Parts: sequence; C-alpha cells; structure tokens
Amino acid sequence: MSQSIRQAAVTSTPSPSLAQVQSPRLPTAETLLPYLARIDETRWYSNRGELVQRLERRLNALFSGGASEATSLLVTASTGSAAIEAAVLAAAGRATPERPLALMPSYTFVATALSVIRCGYRPYFVDVDPETWTLDPDAIAAHPHLAEAGLVMPVTAYGRVPDMRGWERVHAATGVPVVVDAAPAFEPFVRDPGLVSATVPAALSFHATKSFSTAEGGAVLWRDESRLFQVAQISCFGVTDQRLCLFEGFNGKLSEYHAAMGLACLDEWTRREDAYARIAAAYRGGDTAPDQAGTIVATPEVSAAYVILDSPNAAVSHLAEQRLAARGIGTRRWYGMGLHRQPAFADAPHDPLPVTEELTLRHLGLPAAIDLTDEDIAFVLHTLNGNHAGGGETRIGATAGTTPRQPRYG
Ligand SMILES: Cc1ncc(COP(=O)(O)O)c(C=O)c1O
Repeated sequence: MSQSIRQAAVTSTPSPSLAQVQSPRLPTAETLLPYLARIDETRWYSNRGELVQRLERRLNALFSGGASEATSLLVTASTGSAAIEAAVLAAAGRATPERPLALMPSYTFVATALSVIRCGYRPYFVDVDPETWTLDPDAIAAHPHLAEAGLVMPVTAYGRVPDMRGWERVHAATGVPVVVDAAPAFEPFVRDPGLVSATVPAALSFHATKSFSTAEGGAVLWRDESRLFQVAQISCFGVTDQRLCLFEGFNGKLSEYHAAMGLACLDEWTRREDAYARIAAAYRGGDTAPDQAGTIVATPEVSAAYVILDSPNAAVSHLAEQRLAARGIGTRRWYGMGLHRQPAFADAPHDPLPVTEELTLRHLGLPAAIDLTDEDIAFVLHTLNGNHAGGGETRIGATAGTTPRQPRYG
C-alpha cells in the first residue's frame, strides 16, 4: 500500500458514502440526454423499442467477445427477478404435481426463492460447497430428491464464476432443467463468452446495486435463439405479433428509459472497470489490509458490486462488524442468515445446511461504492485492524457534516 494511503488513514475525513455498504453511482443526467432525446423523437417508450434493441446488440457484442453484434445471446427483462421467471418458464414450465420441487441453495438473496415460487415451485434448500459457495453439480446429480424436482437453480454467490459445463452435464444426465440465477455475475460472462450455454440459461440482474446497471433490469443469457424468442414472448404477456395469448406470460419488458441508462452505462463501462479494479487493489493492498480479521474477496473473484470480508470464524466476523458499525461504516450480511431462516420460507424443506450456516456468519459485505477513495478504503482497513485514527467516537456521517443516511438498498 502506498505511503499516501497510510498517511491519509491517519488524517483524512472519510466520505459519507462509507455509511452505506453499497452506494450506487449510475450515469449522470447529462450522459443520458442524447438517449432521452431519441426517445422523444421516436415516441417509442417500451415494448422492445429502438434503445432496447440497441442495448441488446451492444450486450451481444460484449458477451460474444466483440465477435458479432448479430449473434443473439440474450433477451433483456424489466428486472433480474423477471429474467429468472421467464427463463424458468421457458426452460422448465410451471411446476407439476409429480415434480413440485426446485433444488436451490439457501445461501442467496430472497429473490431466488420468490421467483421460483411464482412459477409454482416449492424451494428445497441444498447445502453449498465450501469452496464455490454454491451448489455442487455432482451432489445435485446424486441428490435423493432429484426425482421430485422439476427444476435446479444454482446461484452465482456474489457473482462468482458459474460452472456452466458442470450444470450442462447435470441437465444432460438427468433431464431436469437447470436455470442459473447469475444475478450478480455480469463480469464472468463478459470475461468468458464461452460461459453462455445452449442448454442452461442464466439470468442476470441489472439492478442499481449491480456493477452494470439499467437502474432496474435484467437479462436471460442463452445460446439458443428459439428459446430466447420464447423468453421474449413470455416476458411480453405470452402474446404473439397477432396478439394471440399462447401461454401464461407476464409483463417483464425493459422500458426504453431503462435501456437508455444501460446504454449510458456501457458507454462508460471501461472507466467503471478501471475504478472497480482500483478499489479491489486498495482493499487488498499491503500493510493496512486486515490480517486477523480475514481475507478480502473482491473483483475479479466476485462481482465488483461486492467486497467481502471472509473471516476465519463467526466470532472474528462479528467483531469486525461491531468495529465498523462503531465508526459508522456500513456493512451487510448480503444473504442474511440463509433463506431457510427467513420467515417466508420457514416451511420449505431442506437438507442439513452446515456450510451455509458457517458462510452466513463468516462473510461480511464491506463498502463497495464506485467512488470510494483510497483514503476511504484505508479507513475501513484501519478500523478492521482496530486502529482508530482521529478519535474513537467520531462517526463518518457526522465528520462529513451530513445526516447519516439510512441504507437504501437490500
Ligand atoms: C442472487 C440474486 N438473485 C436475484 C436477484 C434479483 O434481481 P432483481 O433485484 O434485479 O430483481 C438478486 C438481486 O439483488 C440477487 O442478488
């Protein structure tokens, strides 16, 4: 870590954005204006308009390694949840009495379970692998309840790289549809175009808290044009061009305004990537990195939307949480105590979940805003190490002369 960071940690006033674990900064009104003006011209506000089509073409180019904008690898959706639901309905249909279960991790955000419930499935929580933090394809292929499962839904925890080849093998060997909740995994699919599968769809979220964002939005990635066409129909009420309603779809379309945000976000994507890399480097850097508190897990291991402190045990993690809270620094256990401990899913059947239980107590989300300065990050690291520069009681919101903000994002 550079000398300037060490000095800054002693003398600086940390920014108020440290008070929230995630403080999104999306493209400004100025950068949106040309796109908004185009909406005024075309008077096309939703229903797969010009900007949605442009966004899909540019994302196609990104996800195919720049090879071709004509390759159809994705369809956008109004949210990540809508993308999951459309992918499930296209890949598996609604749950049946013979196969009512959806095998999924408990170590995820509540949206995973809520989306499959809306498709008629009953979540069944399976424990995660301690290394990958998600379902293990081999364990799922041999799972005793697989015969009752109409769906398997692995989750890319914090946007880690999904084992798409492993899930393709599970699907091919068992016939059970697999849909990956890849909500936070934008970057792995950009880095490795080969990840987009022809048989296993993956759903991304473009929510404001994600690294690439349309404010609200999402997409289904699938190397199968006829299935993508189905996804587009499902997320447009299940109707054809002749306005025939063929199946139970829903309104899951991305609006032109959200597409405008996505296009502006793509315009600055390279700069955003550089900023995210700088933040990860500062967190991982040198002599102010947390030693006893645990290991920093940041991009590219996880999505740039997250910086995770992986502590050796629950007690150390709890102490870190307390130290940061005492300085007004926002943290979050992003996946709570696991879905099996959420009241809404209390009746859902599950396996023993020892790894999930441990990870929920060991993983702590640290501030990850794109505009964090090296000084902010040094302040977090010093606090984790128990070094309180500048007096013990000072809270960040107060030092910055602002009212401490309430967390706005789940
Ligand atoms: C793992 C996971 N699944 C699903 C979702 C839902 O995405 P959205 O908020 O875009 O509906 C999220 C969003 O935070 C998520 O983190």
